[in-house]
Amino acid sequence: MIGLGVMGRNFLLNMADHGFKVIGFDKDNQKTSALESAATAGTTVKGVGTLQDMVSQLAVPRKIMMLVPAGKPVDDVIESLLPLVQKGDIIIDGGNSHFTDTLRRVTYLQGKGIHFMGMGVSGGEQGARTGPSIMPGGDQEAYSHVRPMLEAVAAKVDGVPCVAHLGKGAAGHYVKMVHNGIEYAIMQLISEAYDLLHRGAGLSNDELYTVFDTWNKGDLRSFLIEITADIFLQPDDKTPNRLVDMILDKAGAKGTGKWTSQDAMDLGVPIPTIDMAVAMRNLSALKTERVQASALYPQQTSLIGTPKEQFIQQVHDALLFATIICYAQGLAQLHRAGIDLDMQIPMPQVVSVWRGGCIIRSVLLPTFANAFKANPGLSNLLLDAEVAKLLNANQAGTRAVAAMAIQHSIPAAALLSSLSYFDTYRSKQLPINLLQAQRDFFGAHTYQRIDQEGTFHTEWAKK
Ligand code: 6PG
Repeated sequence: MIGLGVMGRNFLLNMADHGFKVIGFDKDNQKTSALESAATAGTTVKGVGTLQDMVSQLAVPRKIMMLVPAGKPVDDVIESLLPLVQKGDIIIDGGNSHFTDTLRRVTYLQGKGIHFMGMGVSGGEQGARTGPSIMPGGDQEAYSHVRPMLEAVAAKVDGVPCVAHLGKGAAGHYVKMVHNGIEYAIMQLISEAYDLLHRGAGLSNDELYTVFDTWNKGDLRSFLIEITADIFLQPDDKTPNRLVDMILDKAGAKGTGKWTSQDAMDLGVPIPTIDMAVAMRNLSALKTERVQASALYPQQTSLIGTPKEQFIQQVHDALLFATIICYAQGLAQLHRAGIDLDMQIPMPQVVSVWRGGCIIRSVLLPTFANAFKANPGLSNLLLDAEVAKLLNANQAGTRAVAAMAIQHSIPAAALLSSLSYFDTYRSKQLPINLLQAQRDFFGAHTYQRIDQEGTFHTEWAKK
């Protein structure tokens, strides 16, 4: 393992716990020396001071994984490894690299006879140590060499490891990128639900804990709902308040959500909930401007009048509804990328790998898995009958919450865009006939007719 930061160190120790002999290297000597003392007694874990020392001790074909920041550090590691490795060796990038970088590296190293594999790893520190969700792609031959190791360390659901070969080329990193896009969207939706319940309906942190904890026992059960419940109870160690109330409302991002949106635009796949989640992080960052604007546009402050229990149920329904919509958008993007980018992404396996270990694991995944098992070529989850039942059952609550958010000036952009996506996707007729007329009017862009085949243009009369 090259790179012994939080993820690299924990992933490596996890491998050692499963009986593999491992060696770790980091540019930072302190991290290397801390590695061996963190190992479980009886496991074989070595920290080495040079890459050369590491490479010379590995059995061939060498299996070398890196977990370093995306971008130049990955290229630097590859360049320093090249004089040390030989044909047939396998280099794995387990970080959040952009898939186009991974494609470039696959081709570059193929020319030198080295297998390069882009592999998404999800689950944060705890996941890496005890069972992450692992998303490898690319070279099948290389995968067969590392498969036993990956299956041993991955999270297990019903005894099945949360790892599978997820397609050609840079598919592993592509799937992880979209995983992160969905992650951004769900986090935004949960934050909007919190705002509606807290600012809108006046729930305290203790009440919020109870609501999220109860939700986590039902059909919203998921990693993100679970940690959200816990967040409301965390005390601040500097003031008598809860920590959540002391955290500045400005979000950062490392870019994977934005990349998801950028590539969806290129593919022409609509993923507005994910786009909105990216935009909302950007809007949150404009704190100074928001403070200025709040003085110019004072907000209505009255609490939402719906009885509390009823409103909590409606917010539950809205969150479930919109969460399904953002999975549907991300999975539609993966379906399209599998075809248009020739990644050949096996959709049933993607959903299966996300069932455990990763940040977006949820009790909803088995329903999605059934949908893709029944129809691996499903272009959108919304076309599945079981998913349709869920969406229909939660539609009324979603509309009630959307209306309340608008009436009470509480921003719920991801929720509203999920509902708009749904209403658009299920509309047999859209007003786009008019838009096509406008395009043809000013730009002779042509249009199609509903009653005849062909392409038409009209000399529109200007009054
Ligand atoms: C995971 C996570 C992780 C990811 C951040 C996104 O699956 O464990 O997706 O890999 O990098 O959660 O980080 P930002 O919110 O900083 O973009």
